[in-house]
Amino acid sequence: MSRTYCIKTYGCQMNSHESEKLSGILSSRGYDETDNIDIADIVLLNTCCIRESAETHILGNLGIIKKAKEKRPSMIVGVCGCMTQQNGAAEKLKKRCPFIDIIFGTHNLHMLSEYLDSAEKGKKVIDIWDSEGQIEEGLPIKRIGKISALVNIMYGCDNFCSYCIVPYVRGRERSRNPQNIISDVKNLIDGGYREITLLGQNVNSYSCDGVDFAELLNRLSDLEGNYWIKFLTSHPKDLSEKVISTIAQKEHLAHFIHLPIQSGSDRILQLMNRKYSAKEYLDKIEMVKSYLPDVGLSCDIMVGFPTETEEDFLQTLDVVEKVGYSNLYSFIYSQRKGTPADKMTQVPIEIKKERIDRLIKKQFVIANKIAEDSIGKIYTVLCDGKESDKFIGKTGSDKKVAFTGSNARLGEFTRVRITEAHNSKLIGIEVQ
Ligand code: SAH
Ligand code: SF4
Ligand code: F3S
Repeated sequence: MSRTYCIKTYGCQMNSHESEKLSGILSSRGYDETDNIDIADIVLLNTCCIRESAETHILGNLGIIKKAKEKRPSMIVGVCGCMTQQNGAAEKLKKRCPFIDIIFGTHNLHMLSEYLDSAEKGKKVIDIWDSEGQIEEGLPIKRIGKISALVNIMYGCDNFCSYCIVPYVRGRERSRNPQNIISDVKNLIDGGYREITLLGQNVNSYSCDGVDFAELLNRLSDLEGNYWIKFLTSHPKDLSEKVISTIAQKEHLAHFIHLPIQSGSDRILQLMNRKYSAKEYLDKIEMVKSYLPDVGLSCDIMVGFPTETEEDFLQTLDVVEKVGYSNLYSFIYSQRKGTPADKMTQVPIEIKKERIDRLIKKQFVIANKIAEDSIGKIYTVLCDGKESDKFIGKTGSDKKVAFTGSNARLGEFTRVRITEAHNSKLIGIEVQ
């Protein structure tokens, strides 16, 4: 009988993609994938610590895994990723959960095979690297999807936003060689992938061998094939007109920008160390809309950052109203040890909850209005699923569409006319 592994992934797309690399390593060792921890020979948790809720959730799941390991002591349990990379976290985790066999961090996932060699001999491993080391190229990757693929263009973050743990657990910013990225993307397109999402904490600061992000996009979009390219995440301070004009000129670059503002108050933005004002952000949005009138915009916003007043929050609501995001990811600020904001005067949880409710309600109305404005328009849609009698797909501006049609095929682009909108969900019909 074949040996199996199960990976539980928490957090962002960066982590999802890294789990594809962990999967690649395990597959090349001859393991098959399962989603059932009750039969898996290896269970790996690829963790996140962006907010306290993520860590609480993971610790809860470790309780379930502990029970499974009591029943089957031969099962190997590994924990890796951002949570274990925090200062002192691995030792604490080892004490709290002595049943874990392997603990490693974000800088050494390529070592998994060596760690398994030890664990299979009954030797426990705890290995956290203090610094990032060289970018590991050429790791095997076992991808989850066949239509959309994630490609790292850079690692780490140098921005040190005052609330954020990422720079501490992901190390300093480093960009992959453009040739390696182009060759990965070419292979994916040749292998039938239609949507490539480039990943980095701040893709706009990509820089390697004299190639900046705009030039990287330019070179990637010269590749032959039937595909579009999206990217995450753009930091507003670094999003350049050159990037946007490149997107406007090249057909393979999707008209979608995720541009997190975090807060609409200049006082809070300064405390957050974001290095732009609300006005500068709105000017960038105007610039984007002038080049790409059909752009889809999404955003991250945090409520209840230390010292946030009602007035600060109203300024955030004002930005949301002015920009018109088709998607908004809103979060309650969560204290992270070792970050400057942890030491600032905190906002009571009831106020944070009340504010996030108001923000979600406002966004609901805006997203509905944007969806209704799409009725009658025709979009190119990448078909990536099927639900009962309808195909599911998304537009280049990253809007989800359910549609009917006789020519649509999974993994292909189709032209769809929007006929209805229900609670911001688009319904359409294929046009010939
Ligand atoms: N590099 C990306 C964000 C990565 S983290 C960027 O700069 O936009 C994803 C989102 O999590 C952030 O945009 C922020 O809104 C949220 N976040 C980060 N730290 C947080 C914290 N301590 N509490 C609550 N939300 C947080
Ligand atoms: Fe965190 Fe700021 Fe870096 Fe994004 S840019 S990962 S929010 S420190
Ligand atoms: Fe991502 Fe969470 Fe780490 S959001 S970078 S997995 S802390």
